[in-house]
Amino acid sequence: MNILVVGRGGREHSLVMHLEKSSQVDKLYAAPGNGGMDKHATCVNINEMDIDGLVHFAKEAGIDLTIVGPEAPLNAGIADRFQEENLAVFAPTEKAALLEGSKSFAKDFMKKYEIPTAAYETFTDAEAAKRYIEQQGAPIVVKADGLAEGKGVIVAETKEQAIEAIDNMMIEKTFAEAGATIVIEEFLEGNEFSLMAFVHENNVFPMMPARDHKRAYDNDEGPNTGGMGAFAPVPDVTEDILTYTEKVVLQKAADSLMEEGRPFTGILYAGLMNTPKGPKVIEFNTRFGDPETQVVLPLMNNDLDQVILDVMAGKDPELEWKDEACVGVVVASAGYPGLYKKGAPIPVSEPTDYTFVVQAGTEKSKDGIVSNGGRVLLVGAVGENLDQAAQTAYDYLQIFNTTDAFFYRKDIGINKI
Ligand code: AMP
Ligand code: GLY
Repeated sequence: MNILVVGRGGREHSLVMHLEKSSQVDKLYAAPGNGGMDKHATCVNINEMDIDGLVHFAKEAGIDLTIVGPEAPLNAGIADRFQEENLAVFAPTEKAALLEGSKSFAKDFMKKYEIPTAAYETFTDAEAAKRYIEQQGAPIVVKADGLAEGKGVIVAETKEQAIEAIDNMMIEKTFAEAGATIVIEEFLEGNEFSLMAFVHENNVFPMMPARDHKRAYDNDEGPNTGGMGAFAPVPDVTEDILTYTEKVVLQKAADSLMEEGRPFTGILYAGLMNTPKGPKVIEFNTRFGDPETQVVLPLMNNDLDQVILDVMAGKDPELEWKDEACVGVVVASAGYPGLYKKGAPIPVSEPTDYTFVVQAGTEKSKDGIVSNGGRVLLVGAVGENLDQAAQTAYDYLQIFNTTDAFFYRKDIGINKI
């Protein structure tokens, strides 16, 4: 089988690392891929948004299955185009991907089908939004409706911060059209977790839960980022919580999307807050999470390509999970998520049997691999339990202490909340 992975981040690096292990995979391609992926796959220089280019390549190269990593091409209709050309693609159509592409659509959908989520109102008028903030008070959460690369959510601790967020989104148009409509929602208290599932129409096969840490610094302090590390499984997410979430969130969402005439194929990702009243959805994503994928896939015994083929054929993939834990720590450029420098040489050390390195913001240069993004790479480790996995990952991470070009959080998998 020939497989194409669309994307260039850590998540896609992780996907090709796992696909490479399968004996069924003949040729593995990544478009456009990154500096670390070419060890596992042939990188082809086609942008993830160049859908015509990707269709053309899939036909030329005899691709049997395409897996799409990032959200932007999903919302641009990549799955629809591949399907029109009779090319197998594991990704939702544009209509189904709206569950991530529009927060107001997602919130109205959850309300209609009674999927637990924070109370909310949608606004297209800044003055009305501000009056609502005055009424509700803080803390409160302001969200741009459309895709904003994870930056469109402001958890405002004061009314002033909320009003500033409205001005940024609706008056200054920081997120362009993505912020023309905003959702304002109730602040939820609790511990967050992510639950992803392989989905095809009504069939839902959940993975192991993971916890992603989005704040830049230890103890969840500092600005929000694209994610500074993750671990799986999550000790405080009990079997009962999982069973409830599978039924009342993931299965209900898949069934309801069918009812709406938007059947879902691909990865359905629920970001949840485990509140005193039970889990509530913070957001749906319609793709593999990043960095959750990097810590969940190492715990799966099945071949990823076979799981996807089974799910798409309506069969139970019989997922099997290791009785172990995985911790992944992101190494970021000093200064991230603010201004940072690119081009710093990346210290190299061979990963051991229990550690792995997944690259994201890297580039090949004449001096070896150098940084070219905010989140540079993720060091992951598998262990008998979270403490052991964290210890192994942090032992390896010491090589990054010799330079001040990078930083990483010291508490991923150690501080389990
Ligand atoms: P998102 O980009 O939607 O994942 O949101 C970014 C982060 O904002 C989430 O991971 C949460 O930590 C936080 N957040 C979003 N919505 C809420 C909410 N209603 N209550 C509390 N925190 C939230
Ligand atoms: N880890 C959150 C996301 O993938 O959006």
